[in-house]
Amino acid sequence: VSLKNFNTFGIDAKARYFTEINREEDLQELFLDDQWKQLPRLVLGGGSNMLFVKDFEGLVIRMNIRGIEHRINHEEVTVEAGAGEVWNELVTYCVDHGFAGMENLSLIPGSVGASPIQNIGAYGIELKDVFHSCHAFEIASGTFRTFTKEECGFGYRESVFKSELKGQYIITRVKFQLSLQPNLSLHYGAIQQELEKRGIEQPTIKDVSQVVSHIRVSKLPDPSTIGNAGSFFKNPVISKEQFETLVSEFPDVVHYPASDGVKLAAGWLIEQCGWKGKTVGNTGTWKNQALVLVNHGNATGQEVYTLSSQIIDSVYTKFGVSLEREVNIIN
Ligand code: EPU
Repeated sequence: VSLKNFNTFGIDAKARYFTEINREEDLQELFLDDQWKQLPRLVLGGGSNMLFVKDFEGLVIRMNIRGIEHRINHEEVTVEAGAGEVWNELVTYCVDHGFAGMENLSLIPGSVGASPIQNIGAYGIELKDVFHSCHAFEIASGTFRTFTKEECGFGYRESVFKSELKGQYIITRVKFQLSLQPNLSLHYGAIQQELEKRGIEQPTIKDVSQVVSHIRVSKLPDPSTIGNAGSFFKNPVISKEQFETLVSEFPDVVHYPASDGVKLAAGWLIEQCGWKGKTVGNTGTWKNQALVLVNHGNATGQEVYTLSSQIIDSVYTKFGVSLEREVNIIN
């Protein structure tokens, strides 16, 4: 089975076996057969955060569990969605119903089931800020359990599903905690500028959602026309000491406070190394955002991977900072 239409990078890798899950029970049925338990597995949502470097010699499980339901209790709203729902369709559902909390996360590619795994985030909000709990299937035991927010161990683009429990659970449904009373997060400079430009003084959640969508469209390539997986690297966090040394040599370095040091804008580091908008064979970096690697058509996963290694090397040589890939590398 070709995975070209199942990954936003548009890499033409193949999967040995492929199955689609439409109901939670489908997972129990699938794993009754020991054959599947033994094989390498890959759970696929929107395929918006992975790079296939080789064909996948195992079972690809495409999550397609649908459904969105909400419950209102005074000002509080809980919304539960199937893992296979498209993330932005959930955001649109909530914004249209006046459920506040996830408007800053508008237009992030990917599925609901994938959203907790890397604690997706944008424009000052992370998934963990609206997450209540999730339901997940344990492959080894064939049973389901609920994870509370604390049990998910969320961090910057991190959770237990990427670390301790990697590969052990399959998320089937996610519950969110929202509110009828907006508590807007507008401190991100680009949001303020765009609201001002539109003459909006008292923004609604719909305004914020539209502004965020506008900013994303202007900065990030649309995966339906140019293959990409959003930010390819994480923004690196370095120690205060290392930062002092760095800033003395590079006074313009774009940085933000972080709980455990100083966070640097990886896009800036990459741009300073001369990579922004550069095309290398079938691949390259995006002209408006150097942190995004793109497939200009027919790139192989290996080509994109090689480019990412070259970028890591040059950023390290110039700044002494190690970039870490944010995208999952499947090899
Ligand atoms: N910058 C440059 N050159 C570039 C790109 C960025 O100099 O080519 C500098 C600019 O100073 C800019 C700053 O970096 O102001 C930050 O750039 P941007 O606002 O685009 O955000 P980011 O830090 O590059 C992060 C997330 C994005 C998210 C945005 C907005 C990560 C790895 N990425 O990017 O998330 O949309 O903030 O909140 O944290 C993703 O994870 O796939 C993703 C797109």
